[in-house]
Amino acid sequence: MKIETSSYFAASAPAAVTSHVDRHQAALVRCIGKLQTTMPIIGIRNPKIGLDDNGWAYCGPYDWVVSFHAGQLWLALQLTGDPTFLHAARARRSVFRNILAHRRAQDHDLGFQYSLSCVAEWLMTGEKEPRALALDAANLLLGRYRPEGRYLQAWNALPTHGSMRADFANGRIIADTMQNLALLYWAYGETGRSDFRDAADGHADTSLKHLVRADDTSFHTFLFDPGNGRPLRGETHQGFADDSCWSRGQAWLIHGFAQCARVTGSETYLDAARKLAAKAQQLMGTEVVPAWDYNVPDSQNAPRDSSAGAIMAAGIYMLADQCSFDEAQHWRGFADRLIAGLLDTCDLTSDPAALGLLAHGAAHVGSGFSDTMLPYGDYYFMEALMRSLGHTQFFW
Ligand code: GLY
Repeated sequence: MKIETSSYFAASAPAAVTSHVDRHQAALVRCIGKLQTTMPIIGIRNPKIGLDDNGWAYCGPYDWVVSFHAGQLWLALQLTGDPTFLHAARARRSVFRNILAHRRAQDHDLGFQYSLSCVAEWLMTGEKEPRALALDAANLLLGRYRPEGRYLQAWNALPTHGSMRADFANGRIIADTMQNLALLYWAYGETGRSDFRDAADGHADTSLKHLVRADDTSFHTFLFDPGNGRPLRGETHQGFADDSCWSRGQAWLIHGFAQCARVTGSETYLDAARKLAAKAQQLMGTEVVPAWDYNVPDSQNAPRDSSAGAIMAAGIYMLADQCSFDEAQHWRGFADRLIAGLLDTCDLTSDPAALGLLAHGAAHVGSGFSDTMLPYGDYYFMEALMRSLGHTQFFW
């Protein structure tokens, strides 16, 4: 076992932080309680998106979000040592065998899917099969690397993606993929094979060059000529406009670059996380939960995206852990403010009718999916609370 279970209270909160500890600690205890009480209802299904009554709609077998509930269960096991979390998380393993058997199920989201399930299981239990499954997934993710443009192709032009056409999917990178690089870095650590690391570095470099704009806002996606890797243009898929800044995309990049910096020690990636975070802070102004897109008209009344707030908070605590004391104070203050916003306006952990943790997520506003619970918002909320309390062991 590479990660030991630790008590809720075991991690030592950084010296700079005391004021939020009790509130964050209590919230984390409520998260664990919610996972415990919902276990008999959720069973081995995997939440996909919230329903109007704060129940869940559940994933099909290949959904990109299929691992986020498992990720919460593995965190809960780490915090409590309670074997019911182990059994509930481990019971999901067949989902991850199945994805590897179906070519159409495999895209850039293999990183999200396997880091929070099979890598987590390997780190928590030392069992061999999940390690092998995660390495197979990492190999498949590596197969999406396009050396001519130094990027990982995000999507497949296949019926699993609805009407997405080949010319839309081919040659496209998206901000979200930064979260999937952790699986490649993990596989490099396990095998010593430098092609895993080189692909992750290559994709991070390309994302920094083309997804991050000169003013530190970001494109959601960027398109390359799939034949020769020539950069073409930035576009959106889930944001308000091609030239707007989708708040979850900015959050994926903040967390992703902070994570790449942590793994590689690169000052370039750390600086990228810092600049993206500073821009998000500026764009939020006095808001406490980000609007779904920073450039949407009348943003104060636009749908919020609690998942963007949670992802960003987790990433900013990770950024803070890599900064000098004074700079860390600044970033922790901002992340604490994001958590306070979530606790003040989105917290469902005390609502007995809710099966999830956070309200007011925006999955895809353009397709009509907003103001809902999201399993990734819930996962990153727990990660952020844990990081705020000094925990440093995660599955990526
Ligand atoms: N990775 C898809 C999303 O953020 O909605």
